[in-house]
Amino acid sequence: MEHYIVSSNTALELKLVRKGSDIHDSKAAFYPDMTYQVFGNVEKIFGYKDLVIKMYYAACSLKLYINISYSSKVNPEQFGVTADNIMDKLKSYISPSFFTNIDLFEKCLEDESRYKPFGIQLDQFFLNIKDEKQVFEVYVVEGENSLFKEYFDQLQTFVLWYIDSSNFIDIDDTKWTIFIIYEIFKNENGDKCYSPVGYSTVYEYYAYPDKIRPRISQMLILPPFQRKGLCAKLLNSLYKHYATKADVVDITVESPNDEFQLIRDFVDVDNFHRLGTFDKEKFKKLHYKKMVEEFKDLYKINQKQIRRVIEIILLEVTNRFDKEEYKKYKDFVKSRLNWPFQKKPTKLMLAMPAEEIQKIQKPDSIEKLEELDFEFKELEFLYDKVIKRLEINRTA
Ligand SMILES: CC(C)(COP(=O)(O)OP(=O)(O)OC[C@H]1O[C@@H](n2cnc3c(N)ncnc32)[C@H](O)[C@@H]1OP(=O)(O)O)[C@@H](O)C(=O)NCCC(=O)NCCS
Repeated sequence: MEHYIVSSNTALELKLVRKGSDIHDSKAAFYPDMTYQVFGNVEKIFGYKDLVIKMYYAACSLKLYINISYSSKVNPEQFGVTADNIMDKLKSYISPSFFTNIDLFEKCLEDESRYKPFGIQLDQFFLNIKDEKQVFEVYVVEGENSLFKEYFDQLQTFVLWYIDSSNFIDIDDTKWTIFIIYEIFKNENGDKCYSPVGYSTVYEYYAYPDKIRPRISQMLILPPFQRKGLCAKLLNSLYKHYATKADVVDITVESPNDEFQLIRDFVDVDNFHRLGTFDKEKFKKLHYKKMVEEFKDLYKINQKQIRRVIEIILLEVTNRFDKEEYKKYKDFVKSRLNWPFQKKPTKLMLAMPAEEIQKIQKPDSIEKLEELDFEFKELEFLYDKVIKRLEINRTA
């Protein structure tokens, strides 16, 4: 019976198809990181041998082709159980119009150059990848029409496979702003085509009395385009968009994962270094008030993240072989890590379980100092990763 159980993470094959030959090119395929939202927590599909679920998107229009193939399917009369209904599970998440005929899908590729980006262009940049100059553009979409909704609903199906506990967003809510990054390429006829390679969704929360606080909700770069610096570029485009808006208090991020937090740290620290007011010596002496003001003004970074940026730059300029200097740095970071321990009981704390309150109000104990030390080391490890990326970036 186990021959009939397959991992949904390996059975699902995704492609962004630019030309007919991509359909048969195994190198064009990429696979999901997770599938539990669609196929259940154990990420298994029951009832098929050699199962392949093809979900191929036309690279520009995102028109979809779906095909399910297998070498054999469980026989309910023989085993008393039926195979999972794959199409039924998928249908709750995808738009009802998709191709099942590969020839028709291939034919639709001829029209791909007709699809132009929605919204307003924010940025254009070039990357040299394998000695080839690749062009990317970032667009911002605010309050677009039903055509965009249709297009975006296709694009956001990718979050199912790459973002934990993700939800589709409803762009009818005008507080959503979408940033999409496209790669520009020429098709076989030499026509310019725009293929989405990633996007970010931002919700513009109201801030009293007449301001907004944009919160980055999702950030996704599709697997074939990851680790090229595109997320960092997209984040900078997003900052650029909000920099000019007088009603923005600051930009926050909704529960960032570690990977995204590292990229955010890298982008923010890099931008800080580029400030007109940046002065390493003054910074070392903690005279960074003016620099922080300029930084806030230009990038609308929130207070909590600014503190992280300061800690990373201080680590960069601290001589860790100098015991006294290093201790000063540790104390600076630990003073921040320590603040929850110093809190007087609040209404929220009173509602917490007793052991949580104990942790918060714990007196200076060896246990607490060890905990702070451990937290510091974890943070230092992450900060060092950011510093390493900055160094690589400077020498590139
Ligand atoms: C997280 C995510 C958005 C990052 O996108 P990305 O475009 O790959 O990010 P970047 O390229 O800017 O940086 C990622 C890594 O690539 C490295 N990198 C950047 N340019 C590079 C290059 N030219 N060559 C080699 N490595 C490079 C960076 O140093 C970084 O390395 P690190 O992880 O060791 O620190 C992407 O992986 C993703 O969509 N993941 C799934 C969804 C998700 O987790 N989203 C975030 C929370 S909602």
